[in-house]
Amino acid sequence: MQRVNVGLLGCGTVGRGFVELLGRERERIRARHGVDVAIRRILVRDAAKQRTGINPALFTTSAIDVLDDGCDIIVELVGGVHAAGAFVRRALRNGHDVVTANKALLADSGRELFATAQTHDARIGFEASVCGGIPIIGALQRGLVGDRIDSITGILNGTCNYILTRMEQDDIELADALLQAQAHGFAEADPSLDISGVDAAQKLRILSELAFGPMTMRLRVHGIGDVTRAEIEQARSRRCVVRHVAAARRVAGGVELRVERRELPESHPLAAVRDETNAVVVRGRAVGEIMFQGKGAGSLPTAAAVLADVVGLAQRNRMRVLT
Ligand SMILES: NC(=O)c1ccc[n+]([C@@H]2O[C@H](COP(=O)([O-])OP(=O)(O)OC[C@H]3O[C@@H](n4cnc5c(N)ncnc54)[C@H](OP(=O)(O)O)[C@@H]3O)[C@@H](O)[C@H]2O)c1
Repeated sequence: MQRVNVGLLGCGTVGRGFVELLGRERERIRARHGVDVAIRRILVRDAAKQRTGINPALFTTSAIDVLDDGCDIIVELVGGVHAAGAFVRRALRNGHDVVTANKALLADSGRELFATAQTHDARIGFEASVCGGIPIIGALQRGLVGDRIDSITGILNGTCNYILTRMEQDDIELADALLQAQAHGFAEADPSLDISGVDAAQKLRILSELAFGPMTMRLRVHGIGDVTRAEIEQARSRRCVVRHVAAARRVAGGVELRVERRELPESHPLAAVRDETNAVVVRGRAVGEIMFQGKGAGSLPTAAAVLADVVGLAQRNRMRVLT
């Protein structure tokens, strides 16, 4: 049995989900995978906040208490670029493996962080950073390495998809659909990164680097901020739907990345992807088209991806010790 001590940075939506899921699944993971995952410390901003069901003695507001406490894996669920980046750098320099759900940090400093990890013989797990509970990172890193990927096309932002679906089904304008998304917890109070297409572009870039390697990438981003009910009605009159599509494909001299609204025939596989659901279609030369679809965000689905990375890294480390 391998014991893995986790230092958890952040106990918000995903952090709380991670604690809950680990509570449910710890015994099964011990029995089935030979890894016993335990949380040693949890970093938060406000240690006095009520967090039902979690031992209050685990909380600290000092990052050093978590980062320099000899944990085996640091799980970063703080979000943002600056503080999270400093925490991840310190963890990697300490030689700790890191698991993160933070696509913004990877988009901002991914190359530097992976280089730091390599220098210090540490690893970064980031399955949760793109499409929450859909295991698309693992598929591109492992399952599909035998094939050459020609294109990736997906609905990578649940907020935009929820808004477009509501506009289509309820005949409402963008502002009202956004209010519904916020009321149901599918959009942040400040939804600008989603609406502008930047969030989807960050995710597409991460997927493209995995699928195509370090190639010249040309990126064009257009959000949904100017979509109108009339546009959606016109699409419907042509038996089409409007979707916010992120697409990457090989072109002469590199890879072209486009994030934009597209009118898709109702028979298109992505047309059937509704509400906050995410989907990714990968086209490989040998395997043809593969479609992944599921919950792209949310507390437990995202936590499941984080926990999978923790178990995967622990198993990998055990193999290194044994060989
Ligand atoms: N929410 C989702 O569905 C989802 C899906 C995929 C990926 N992600 C990614 O997962 C990460 C976490 O998201 P979230 O929704 O769980 O965020 P969140 O609910 O805002 O939680 C953030 C947590 O980090 C703590 N924190 C923030 N800044 C801190 C600082 N400077 N020092 C110490 N603690 C700090 C907060 O402490 P307090 O609780 O004391 O305020 C809180 O516990 C982000 O990178 C996000 O992009 C989220």
